[in-house]
Amino acid sequence: MTSWIDVAAEADLFEGAGIAVTPEGQDIALFKLEEGVYAINNLCTHGNAKLCDGFVEGHNVECPFHQALFDLRDGSVSCGPATEPVKSWPVKLENGRVYLELRL
Ligand code: FES
Repeated sequence: MTSWIDVAAEADLFEGAGIAVTPEGQDIALFKLEEGVYAINNLCTHGNAKLCDGFVEGHNVECPFHQALFDLRDGSVSCGPATEPVKSWPVKLENGRVYLELRL
């Protein structure tokens, strides 16, 4: 079963910075890029770091602990030391709100 969950106002997002949201107990980071809004798991796959605190470089976010780069568009690793991707979540923008599709 899938459901779209309203997690934030689009106006809360700024290019170059992430925010954390926790729908249904999931820890997810939202990022706004020029081409759209993206959602990935907030916890780095390499350690206990929150990617919402990372520095955004192009379409990547840099983990604040050991500087692994994750592609915001699909969660893949662009640069180590992380080797496992982070999960990415489908995003929909509607009427100024950000929705995530959570598969429950
Ligand atoms: Fe993220 Fe090490 S904890 S790169």
